[in-house]
Formats: sequence, structure tokens, C-alpha cells
Amino acid sequence: MKKRKTAAKKNTKPLAGFAGRLVLLGAGKMGQAMLDGWLARGLKAPKVIALDPQPSKEIKATAKRGVKVNPKAGPKAIADAQAIVIAVKPQMAPDAVPPLGLYAGKSTLVVSIMAGRTIAFLEKALPPGTAIVRAMPNTPAAVGRGISVAVANRQVTAKQRKLATDLLSAIGTVEWVGDEKLIDAVTAVSGSGPAYVFLLAEAMTQAGIAAGLPAALAARLARETVTGSGELLHRSEIDPATLRQNVTSPGGTTAAALAVLMGPGGFDALLTKAIGAAAQRSRELAG
Ligand SMILES: NC(=O)c1ccc[n+]([C@@H]2O[C@H](COP(=O)([O-])OP(=O)(O)OC[C@H]3O[C@@H](n4cnc5c(N)ncnc54)[C@H](OP(=O)(O)O)[C@@H]3O)[C@@H](O)[C@H]2O)c1
Repeated sequence: MKKRKTAAKKNTKPLAGFAGRLVLLGAGKMGQAMLDGWLARGLKAPKVIALDPQPSKEIKATAKRGVKVNPKAGPKAIADAQAIVIAVKPQMAPDAVPPLGLYAGKSTLVVSIMAGRTIAFLEKALPPGTAIVRAMPNTPAAVGRGISVAVANRQVTAKQRKLATDLLSAIGTVEWVGDEKLIDAVTAVSGSGPAYVFLLAEAMTQAGIAAGLPAALAARLARETVTGSGELLHRSEIDPATLRQNVTSPGGTTAAALAVLMGPGGFDALLTKAIGAAAQRSRELAG
């Protein structure tokens, strides 16, 4: 198989030299995944301050490694953070973000992964001139295989951009865009995308049952086919259309299924409609 090229000398510990303090606001599913990734990438645990009203037992366990969880010393002790990562739910933002002004200094980088919370919202909630990166990750972040798309405001320096890339790389691949408006389409494709793939596995299971398979076998076949094909796509340099053609013999079984899926009102048309609806909803929710 033609394999994807990998960088010859990839730095596996890009955060080993991180010198300042890193504040994580919101240590839930995403925050925890990022924290695990940072520590795995060489970040020294005592550099991290995790703020969360009800830290999970996994977060409390990181305290034993040196992470400062809800330190009693308060804002003064954690002022001038080099970076603040916001991973609270978007609805918490109006209460949770403005107090961050206490931790932000002139050289602080703020990275927000909150869905729908715009750079304009963050600029309003934080001290004037704050360097801000807004990023949109997705759920495979939980296994280090997410993809985040990031956009920076004008205050972000090249060094801070590199830091944001290193921080977001902890949960997967990072792409940058220059136009924040693209984040609505990004949200619709990769942010919400894992749900489409899970739905595919559900639908294949149901279709397998309808074709006569026992339910458990249908579920296993669907799961392994979706994950196996995803892994093949991940490891291969070949584009998805060619991979599809490679498993489609003229007049064969796959061709019969694809004639339905790729026919009028089929998969392409449905996904275009679905992703359009998600992008529209993202625009409506933005604030
Ligand atoms: N999960 C995804 O696939 C995904 C994808 C893209 C973007 N995102 C974004 O990532 C962010 C986090 O999502 P998540 O799934 O990790 O949510 P989550 O598991 O609910 O984590 C949020 C954490 O923040 C805590 N929190 C609430 N108020 C706080 C405050 N004032 N200060 C500090 N911490 C506070 C919550 O505590 P309590 O539980 O006690 O309230 C919770 O532990 C969201 O903004 C979401 O839009 C998530």
C-alpha cells in the first residue's frame, strides 16, 4: 500500500520547553484530552493550572503529578499566564471568560475551543489587545485523532501561533484559516462530522439487519467496516474517490449499492444539504 509520508524528524515533545504558566479553564472531556496530550508532549505538570468547579477524578489524579487544580492562592498567584485555554461550554462563556482578564498579561495567548463563540465576543470579554486564537476541534480529540481548525486575531504573534499549534496538536491535526467566517463551514464538516460517521455505522447496522443478519453481527460488521475503512484512508496517500473505485468492480455488488447511493437525491446530495443546514445553524448560534 502506498503510505502517507511522515515528517522525517518530528519533535514528539514540543512543549518540553514551555516556560510560563498555562491556565486551562474547564477541565471536562475536551480539557482533559488536551491536558493528557500536553503532558504526553513534554509539558511539565507544575506549569499547568486547571480551573474547574467540579474537577473529575482523572483531573484530581493529575494533581498528584503536579498540576495545580483550583489553586487556593487565587488570581495573583497565576497572573501573567503565557497561555490560557478556554474549554468551558459556550453557554458558560459570559460568566467564565471576563474574569480571565485577571490572569492575562501583555504576552498572554488565549486559545478558545468553544463552539460558536467568536473572536469578537472574546475580544469584548477580555482586556483590549489580548492575543486570541479561536479553534474548532472535534470529538476524535479524545483519542488524539481530532482535527482542529484555528483562526487568530491580529494581536497573535508568529511565536504565539506556533504555541497554539503545539497546544492544539495534542489532540490531533491542526489547520489554520485566515477568515473566521469559514469556521461555520468547518463546524459543519469536521466539528459535527463525527456524528455523520456514527450515523453511517448505525444505518449500516439497520440495513444489515434488514438484509437478514443477526443484530449483533450486523453491528460488528458496521463498526469494523467504518473504523477499518477510516484507518485505511488515514494511512493511505490515495484519495477517497480512488479508494472507492478500487473496491468497485463493474457490474459487481459494490457498483449496485453505489448506483443507489450516488444516484439522484443520494449520499452527495443529502450530505450537501445536511452540511449546509449545520453551517446555517452555526451562523445563527454565533456570538
Ligand atoms: N466535545 C466536542 O466534540 C467538542 C467539539 C468542538 C468544540 N467543543 C467545545 O469544547 C468545549 C468543551 O466541551 P466539552 O465537551 O469538554 O464540555 P464539558 O465536558 O462539559 O467540559 C466543560 C467543563 O467546564 C467546567 N466548567 C463550567 N463552568 C466553569 C467555570 N466557570 N470555570 C471553569 N470550568 C467550568 C464544567 O464543569 P461542570 O460539568 O461542573 O459544569 C466541565 O467540567 C465546549 O465549548 C465545546 O463547544 C467540543
